[in-house]
Amino acid sequence: MKVGILTGGGDAPGLNAVIRAVVRRSVKYGNEVVGIRHGWDGLINGTYVPLNLNAVSGILPRGGTIIGTSRVNPYKVKDGVKKVKESMDTNGIEALIAVGGEDTLGIAHSLYKEISLPVIGVPKTIDNDIPCTDYTFGFDTAVNIATDAIDRLHTTAEAHDRIIVVEVMGRHTGWIALHSGLAGGADCILVPERPFRMEDVAELINRRHNRGKSFSIIVVAEGAIPQELGTEIKVSEEVDAFGHVRLGGIGYYIAKRLEEMTGYETRTVVLGHLQRGGTPTAFDRVLATRFGVAAADLAFQKNFGKMVVLRGNKIYTESLERITEGIKKIDLELYDIASIFFG
Ligand code: F6P
Repeated sequence: MKVGILTGGGDAPGLNAVIRAVVRRSVKYGNEVVGIRHGWDGLINGTYVPLNLNAVSGILPRGGTIIGTSRVNPYKVKDGVKKVKESMDTNGIEALIAVGGEDTLGIAHSLYKEISLPVIGVPKTIDNDIPCTDYTFGFDTAVNIATDAIDRLHTTAEAHDRIIVVEVMGRHTGWIALHSGLAGGADCILVPERPFRMEDVAELINRRHNRGKSFSIIVVAEGAIPQELGTEIKVSEEVDAFGHVRLGGIGYYIAKRLEEMTGYETRTVVLGHLQRGGTPTAFDRVLATRFGVAAADLAFQKNFGKMVVLRGNKIYTESLERITEGIKKIDLELYDIASIFFG
């Protein structure tokens, strides 16, 4: 059997670990694996790379993805769906493993329903916002990078008596902000799930200064919403093929407002794509490897229209349909625990 694998959407540390696991497991079954270049684009345009044991040797600790990725949406390309089907047939691909977030898996689900594409989904994203899986790989690495940055920024904030606002990714959820902020001892964490008043943030900072602390660290998710604006801050109004705007700039907004409101010197650090770069943590390598093996097993069993998920410490199989449930929001109980340490 020939198994195709593609990686779609933003890269996340652990993608190469999945590719390696799919190849290693599939070869054991006597299956051949082909890598589809740059997500759905590779199926539309027929760009492939053979993946044998040598091709995946040494890639476990590497960030990015050796087969490339893109945000191409076959439903937005002329004859895109037809081309995907033709490409699978012409190249004799009998099973497709699609590794991606809500967009890539949403496409996989639609193609399974509409043209019976023999597809299996593997959830990935640093945002950790996929429903029905406790964690996606990439998230732990992003949280560790952000936590390290918060630790380092503490020393400068303290040395200069400054407030430093750290803007992290996460799109419309605050998973990275909450976990890195909690781990890094942030004095305030702002997330999309809890729209906030600037007056409350300023009051919290003043309270902290009044008890003798002359520096503060605020962690803000890129999608956080100040009540006075009623909306998130975008880099531009442009949307991608999945209708997503590019978020960014909330860190600068908060710094400016806080300086006006408190009089304390405030700086902003936007971590950006640093959070997606470099080697995956051990946790992400293990999770990605387990997902890859489970997906290769489903391909061997021809058990299509499914995705692999983590619940507790076990890998389970779910219907791809579940991707339509919408994004997974943060655990507000955990946010309440984090807020004990604010101010
Ligand atoms: O979904 C992952 C993510 O890194 C988000 O956190 C962020 O909003 C978005 O991708 C950025 O996308 P791009 O790399 O296309 O700018």
